[in-house]
Amino acid sequence: VRRHDLAGLRVAVSAGGTREPIDPVRFIGNRSSGRQGLALAAAAAERGAEVVLVAAHVDRGLLAEAALPTAVRIVAAGTAAELGEAMRSAAVVADVIVMAAAVADYRVEGIAPRKLTKESAAGPAITLELVETDDIVAGLVRDRREGQTIVGFAAETPGDGEALIDRARRKAARKGVDLLAANEVGWERGFETDRNALVIVDVEGRVVAEPRGTKRDVAEAVWDAVVAVRS
Ligand code: C5P
Repeated sequence: VRRHDLAGLRVAVSAGGTREPIDPVRFIGNRSSGRQGLALAAAAAERGAEVVLVAAHVDRGLLAEAALPTAVRIVAAGTAAELGEAMRSAAVVADVIVMAAAVADYRVEGIAPRKLTKESAAGPAITLELVETDDIVAGLVRDRREGQTIVGFAAETPGDGEALIDRARRKAARKGVDLLAANEVGWERGFETDRNALVIVDVEGRVVAEPRGTKRDVAEAVWDAVVAVRS
């Protein structure tokens, strides 16, 4: 049994993958299942926190399976813009913010009001114009209230020669988060699995933990790191 070390804290956790509409029936999404975010929310509630879970697309079966404690309030968000709005409003009272959602970096400019069809296309190829979305966590850091702890996540694909830890350090500094939890993802790793391995660094780039295990195990390690950084 874990200690009640988050009692009295309000936490906001984002989870799942955002979906950016192309037309009324299609979207650009990603492979995030929401598992890690759900585990973070459940762990925080069990450790005594009052939790707002801002859920982008989260696997429905997982959500039911998670049987989240009543201390978790769920707010649904579809797009990156909606998730940003929900997080900004949760942030007004939150002591801790954890951005575990996989947020789209680009959205479709000029969403089609009706379903795109081959008949309506001018030829055998069509072009979608994509524009950058706002970096939500960077905005939350800019507007952070006194004493608020902000945690970012980073899903990285290995293979460009830069070690995960170096990318984590760079991202922590660039975003200004108190803690950044980085994990490797790929076709066989990170998504749709119950296990994860993280390297957690602070804003100075110090490694504070390298948990591996179930997503619940690593969620507990993230909260341990939050407790440590706040003390
Ligand atoms: O730069 P990158 O997308 O890898 O950063 C990941 C972190 O930033 C995650 O915590 C994610 O939730 C957050 N993010 C965000 N707004 C975006 C894109 C990512 O807050 N538009």
